[in-house]
Amino acid sequence: MKLNVVTHNPGKVKEYQAEFAEFNVEMGHVNREYDEVQTSYLEEVVDKGMKQLYKEGLRDFMVDDSGLFINALKGFPGVYSAFGQKTIGNKGILKLMEGVEDRSAMFKCCIGCMIGEERIVVTGICPGFILYEEKGDGGFGYDPIFSPDGELSFAEIPLDQKNSISHRGIATRMLIDELKNRKLI
Ligand code: IMP
Repeated sequence: MKLNVVTHNPGKVKEYQAEFAEFNVEMGHVNREYDEVQTSYLEEVVDKGMKQLYKEGLRDFMVDDSGLFINALKGFPGVYSAFGQKTIGNKGILKLMEGVEDRSAMFKCCIGCMIGEERIVVTGICPGFILYEEKGDGGFGYDPIFSPDGELSFAEIPLDQKNSISHRGIATRMLIDELKNRKLI
């Protein structure tokens, strides 16, 4: 079976390919735009994107949307995480968090998948904390300021360890389980 990943990021296709390899699923890469609706929910962005792509004739595909939700900032940057990273960056987030005691946050990843007429939407969550300073040189995006246990940042732990607990890793395994339940893989 071939599953097309709709994304601008070829790195994501590689990550999914690694997870799906043992199920004989070949990942295709579709570098194509879809509207990202203005909403506070990743699920709504994914749902609307799937409907649009299906309507435009795309079949057997998956889309995903992730973000960092900081409790003390009422969920910001959330669905605006890519924008937040491009504009204020990690330093800006740390500034907003100066003097804030509640450091709790979570990464969320929502994946939507359409195979034929079958529609699957899953959300993986990784709870953790915003650190007081950037730590580590691995990873990307908010990794240096996010820690699952309040100590080591995501940028300080090996990728396979990150994947075993990350929002994207969890969502991917949820998707694989659901595809297996429905006998699609
Ligand atoms: P996307 O929807 O997966 O492209 O993620 C949106 C934005 O959230 C990215 O531009 C990153 O800034 C941030 N993000 C998502 N996942 C991660 C992660 O695992 N580590 C760090 N930042 C992330």
